[in-house]
Amino acid sequence: MGIEKRYKVIDIVEASKKSNDILISGWVRNKRQSKNVAFLSVNDGSTIKNLQVVIDLSKVEIDLIEKINTGTSLSIIGKIVKSQGRDQSFELIAHKIYILGVADPESYPLQPKKHSFEFLRDISHLRSRTNTFGAIFRIRHAIIYAIHNFFNSKGFLNIHTPILTSSDAEGAGEMFKVTTLDIEKKIKNNYKDDFFGKEVNLTVSGQLNAELAALGLSEVYTFGPTFRAENSNTSRHLAEFWMIEPEMAFYDIKDNMDLAEEMLKYLVKYTLDNCKDDLSFLEKAEGDRDKQKPMLERQSLNLTERLKFVCNNTFERLKYSEAFEILKNSKPNKKNKFDFPVNEWGIDFQSEHERYLVEKHFKKPVIIVDYPKKIKAFYMRQNDDNKTVAAMDVLFPIVGEIIGGSQREERYDKLLSRMKEMNISEKQLWWYLETRKFGTVIHSGFGLGLERLVQFVTGMTNIRDVIPFPRSPGNCKF
Ligand code: 4AD
Ligand code: MG
Repeated sequence: MGIEKRYKVIDIVEASKKSNDILISGWVRNKRQSKNVAFLSVNDGSTIKNLQVVIDLSKVEIDLIEKINTGTSLSIIGKIVKSQGRDQSFELIAHKIYILGVADPESYPLQPKKHSFEFLRDISHLRSRTNTFGAIFRIRHAIIYAIHNFFNSKGFLNIHTPILTSSDAEGAGEMFKVTTLDIEKKIKNNYKDDFFGKEVNLTVSGQLNAELAALGLSEVYTFGPTFRAENSNTSRHLAEFWMIEPEMAFYDIKDNMDLAEEMLKYLVKYTLDNCKDDLSFLEKAEGDRDKQKPMLERQSLNLTERLKFVCNNTFERLKYSEAFEILKNSKPNKKNKFDFPVNEWGIDFQSEHERYLVEKHFKKPVIIVDYPKKIKAFYMRQNDDNKTVAAMDVLFPIVGEIIGGSQREERYDKLLSRMKEMNISEKQLWWYLETRKFGTVIHSGFGLGLERLVQFVTGMTNIRDVIPFPRSPGNCKF
């Protein structure tokens, strides 16, 4: 084409300073045509803002223009000029147009009109070409970048923990098995003939390995995919999701809470400062959807207000027992009761309870500590009351639990007796126990579900819409 550099649509202001022609490539979102001129809205995914391309019909073959439809990919050489229109400050006057790939309007599913999120989920192979998913995936990227930034600036080391594992970190037993054996035939010999010679699963959490690293490197974080085979067909659960797990030697539960609060505020503030265009698009779209809903189902705060709600409030910190009393004595709705009753100390809180505490009672993000040991994992540090452990959950509006973490049991004897109580094989976890035998120190950590955070920041109601290719029970397409 004779022009070396391709400009991105987002770099339009820089391109406008060039005195000669520039090259732009992308997909047509929309075409409008009159007798003498055609206008194309072109987008290459670099920004929510489309580039308006102006084509003088007297200067191009009409055959070519007819081949251009919504979805067509093209490269255009032309000059950036100030636009007369209200919707954009610059536009591209096309001098040469190269069609890269046509998109038949009869069969291309993404015609310019409103599509439901369910429909778009069924065409996940194409949904990156929509405004909404462009905005979501750019924000997802910004959050990932900000996570590495945050930990790097604090001197944390990023370590990779294994995806294939022979231990069950959470002890919940909801794991995907990995095998090279022919599953049609019965698995004999206790997996002796299998690839690893033992039973192996996809990891549910990198925590146990992150602990090993922290007990030598002090402050580390692992950030990887995790897999849970729980049959939770909800708007907050995925079978494959990404988790950020910092693990810190010499941190107690309070240091752990401080870090979690600081990190969440940093990440949300980062998106407010760096994703303005995408956030205001999503905020407006949410507002439009809300208008179709009954009053009670509408958001009480708009998207920006919800993000500021996190940045500007000191998170409320309270013990499980205190939260239990509040919930037991609360009147959550007209019927004055929760779907899951709060009657017995020791129950696990459900999303409706978590949201009530955040949205109705405290009106700020909440951190609950000191949960009953019965409902938490074996590795959490046992409190002196013998009933609770130094666990913490961070609760947010809409998504409920966004972080789960704890101070870890660093005392060899206490850890061993808890493992015995819970039937966790000490033979299998001998290496974990050894870190408590040799040079043990207090340490803590937590796990942040990336998709829960992206869900909160983008305001998407279904977690399947914040990961490019969601996996959930009965759904592993693309
Ligand atoms: O509370 P969880 O299960 O904690 C752990 O896995 C610990 N090992 C973390 C640690 O201390 N290092 O999960 C942590 C977070 C949850 O708070 C939630 O945000 C997210 O991971 N999460 C899920 N996100 C999407 N789909 C699922 N099925 C999820 N399960 C947990
Ligand atoms: Mg949890």
